[in-house]
Amino acid sequence: MNFRDRLKIALNSELTQEELDKLPRGFQMISKIILLKLLSELYEKRFIIAKKCLELYPKMESVYYYGGKITGQFRIPERIEFLAGKNDSIVTHKEHGVLYKFDITKIMFSKGNLNERKYLATLVKPGEYIIDMFAGIGYFSLPIGLFSEATLIYSIELNSVAFKYLQENVKLNHLEEKIIPIFGNCKEEVKNLAEKGVKADRILMAVFPAPKDYISSALLCVKDSGTIVHYEGVKEKSKYLELFDEFNKIAKQNGYKCELKEYRVVKTYGPRLYHIVVDILVNK
Ligand SMILES: C[S@@+](CC[C@H](N)C(=O)[O-])C[C@H]1O[C@@H](n2cnc3c(N)ncnc32)[C@H](O)[C@@H]1O
Repeated sequence: MNFRDRLKIALNSELTQEELDKLPRGFQMISKIILLKLLSELYEKRFIIAKKCLELYPKMESVYYYGGKITGQFRIPERIEFLAGKNDSIVTHKEHGVLYKFDITKIMFSKGNLNERKYLATLVKPGEYIIDMFAGIGYFSLPIGLFSEATLIYSIELNSVAFKYLQENVKLNHLEEKIIPIFGNCKEEVKNLAEKGVKADRILMAVFPAPKDYISSALLCVKDSGTIVHYEGVKEKSKYLELFDEFNKIAKQNGYKCELKEYRVVKTYGPRLYHIVVDILVNK
């Protein structure tokens, strides 16, 4: 029986039929926390629903209401509210064998990016030098560090809260030898790396909206023999080439050549909109 049907039965005497029909089909689970998205009509009933969720899933420790939006440059989740169980929003979430410690009220963790987090590491070849420009808590740097034979990953993050967890997560996953966390704006920090002579085999540009203004800086660390750039954005599926074109135009102006190697649809993002990644081979 699915989650909604189980909840419907459990809440039969406490909600109206109309309310029962509006219960969510599922929930996001982070470690032992249930993140519950509810339609506005059910918001008033959130505590009763949360209590029932814990009764139905006794292995879970708490329920938080999740407004469903992630906003701003730092991609912070909006409107997360404690509802039931243990009020402790700091989790150590395990995914594909990677430990991610963070505070769910301050840091996003997209379940839709699960496959991409795993897949990127499989592309990395032994000995690679990698720059993760928008590293967050280590969403991509940690699986790459654990599951590839990359030599070194420079992970740049501007939000001090996310950066603190990035540092902790590097230690938690025993990756101190492989990941160098750098606090700062990646536009400047990539320039600093280039000045020190760092060239990357792979550069990750994983943030929304597509980080067009950061392309020129990223190019400074491109190798003569070629660098793969993973460039993300939100587009209609049929318009994924616009992401490549946007990157290619700026690269060309700077004297670089680009070849589109692959594109992936990571998740849906809104009506007809998708989170898309283009893998671009860039060289002089
Ligand atoms: C949350 S991740 C995005 C992960 C994934 N691409 C997604 O959208 O699901 C983006 C990270 O980039 C960081 N960030 C934003 N602007 C930045 C900048 N100029 N320099 C370094 N980090 C930045 C944010 O603080 C955030 O932690």
